Amino acid sequence: MITSLAYLGINSPKKDEWPEMATRFWGAMVTDPGPDGSVRLKFDDALWRLQIHPGEQDETAYIGWGVDYEEDLDRVEKALADSGVTSERGDEALAEARGVNRILVFTDPWGFRHEVTWGQSHVRSSFVPGRAISGFVTGQQGLGHVLLLMPDIEAGHEFFTKLGFRLSDKIIVPGRLNARFYHCNARHHTLALGQCPPGVAGLNHLMIQTSSIDDVGTGYEIAQEMGVPITLTIGRHSNDQQFSFYHSTPSSFHVEYGYGGLEVDEETWVPRVYDRTAVWGHQPHPDGKGRPPGIMHPLADPNLPPAEEA
Ligand SMILES: [Fe+2]
Repeated sequence: MITSLAYLGINSPKKDEWPEMATRFWGAMVTDPGPDGSVRLKFDDALWRLQIHPGEQDETAYIGWGVDYEEDLDRVEKALADSGVTSERGDEALAEARGVNRILVFTDPWGFRHEVTWGQSHVRSSFVPGRAISGFVTGQQGLGHVLLLMPDIEAGHEFFTKLGFRLSDKIIVPGRLNARFYHCNARHHTLALGQCPPGVAGLNHLMIQTSSIDDVGTGYEIAQEMGVPITLTIGRHSNDQQFSFYHSTPSSFHVEYGYGGLEVDEETWVPRVYDRTAVWGHQPHPDGKGRPPGIMHPLADPNLPPAEEA
């Protein structure tokens, strides 16, 4: 079953604004562009983990997951079929484009394209940080976490827990937030689902985690020097204890830049419910005013017949 977030792909008209932000502020590394001129970003020795493709509008192009063993792809395929979702094996060209050995593709009921992969290519000692930072917490824990917005997180829970995600906890702030957090490795959550109004779904944020609290502090200063819009001030989350802040990216979604997220011991972990998102901080910043909650897309109307294949 799924054990990590391997990579994320975005389409955006503003791909050229990414390299400076990702290197000078985050400390990520720009590597060779893709065939379509995409910006490929490295966070460790994996070939790349975030790819911004040219596009007419901001879109969540694909969410790439990793499995530990090749045979796990068969299990994911079966779990999807049991949920009534068709999946397809990607060909060699697609596997190569993503820097993996095997790939299984499906679209979930909320219109997100997922790519479940095995054998992500790594080149030892190939990561050179874009600024002086201690590095990113990746490896077995993958790229980080994503928070997806959908109108029915109960249905989301049903769907994603069949693919290897286990509930870590819930945060329910009446009238403000209803969210669930799921782990598939030691990271407290790799996937989070947040309730949003009907008719839409979207990618709210990606979290990337540094190895030192000072990387977050220096990043906070650099982001402000560069004029990167901060959306939530520095704070510590109630559930995963992450010390972080949030900022807007050139492509509508947000990034949580953090340190010190809890690790889950599967043997002893018991899910809890929290009534607030932060122990302290994470206050809305004026820069975030009026910004969209993420890259949102309309949901297909379940009452309409599916479009005919061309
Ligand atoms: Fe987060």
